[in-house]
Amino acid sequence: MKVYRLNVFKQATKIPSFKVDQFSGFRSSSLAFSGNGSSNSAVKNFAVVGAGQMGIGIALVAARVAGIPSVQIVDSNPTALDNGHRFLNSLLEKDISKGKISREEADLVLSRVRKAKSLEELSKVDFVVEAVTENLNVKRAIFETLDKVSPPHAILATNTSSISITKIAAATQRPEKVIGMHFMNPVPVMKLVEIISGLATSQETLQKTLTLSQSMGLYILS
Ligand SMILES: NC(=O)c1ccc[n+]([C@@H]2O[C@H](COP(=O)([O-])OP(=O)(O)OC[C@H]3O[C@@H](n4cnc5c(N)ncnc54)[C@H](O)[C@@H]3O)[C@@H](O)[C@H]2O)c1
Repeated sequence: MKVYRLNVFKQATKIPSFKVDQFSGFRSSSLAFSGNGSSNSAVKNFAVVGAGQMGIGIALVAARVAGIPSVQIVDSNPTALDNGHRFLNSLLEKDISKGKISREEADLVLSRVRKAKSLEELSKVDFVVEAVTENLNVKRAIFETLDKVSPPHAILATNTSSISITKIAAATQRPEKVIGMHFMNPVPVMKLVEIISGLATSQETLQKTLTLSQSMGLYILS
């Protein structure tokens, strides 16, 4: 298995273990990932904050492609949380009707996903991706809380499109464990993620994020 790390502005460079044939199906209109649904990263407890367009897609890919056994979804708006969970369900139903996934596989994916009422429920997470409204103060408040409630080893990632990772990381006592993971919309279709380090992001955090991204079947831009 070959692995490529792509740099948007420079040429592609090789890194260990990346599937070249993952380009097939890129921009496909279905959930045509090549993941086998069994988690090969160290992440066993994953969470997404924000049950909107991006958060639900990220949760689905984490549960379905990476096969992460526990995927929690948090949203401050209970209606958005319910709607998001329903949307995730409907994406799976659509793929069942198209014969792309069996009922058993879909049920297994769904069994991995749980709604969480608050950030305080994320006390066992290994990795969190924040995907809430694009607002620095809102994101900083979330990171401040995540820093307090999540285990010391947990990596806190943000799906921000434009905000400085360093500024978000400054809301925590663990800036070395904060990183940008910029997924593309729609996440279940676009097999691409841009990984952005902040000034303090450690190599270990970067490496673990690359490993997780690979397990999610994603091409990596950095
Ligand atoms: N939509 C895109 O095309 C796209 C692509 C790449 C990155 N992004 C980024 O992803 C993030 C989310 O975008 P989106 O399009 O999914 O937004 P969205 O509006 O669809 O969803 C945001 C969700 O966050 C929830 N939320 C807001 N404040 C919260 C809080 N304090 N705690 C918990 N939940 C909260 C909202 O209730 C909503 O459900 C943004 O940072 C955006 O810039 C978006």
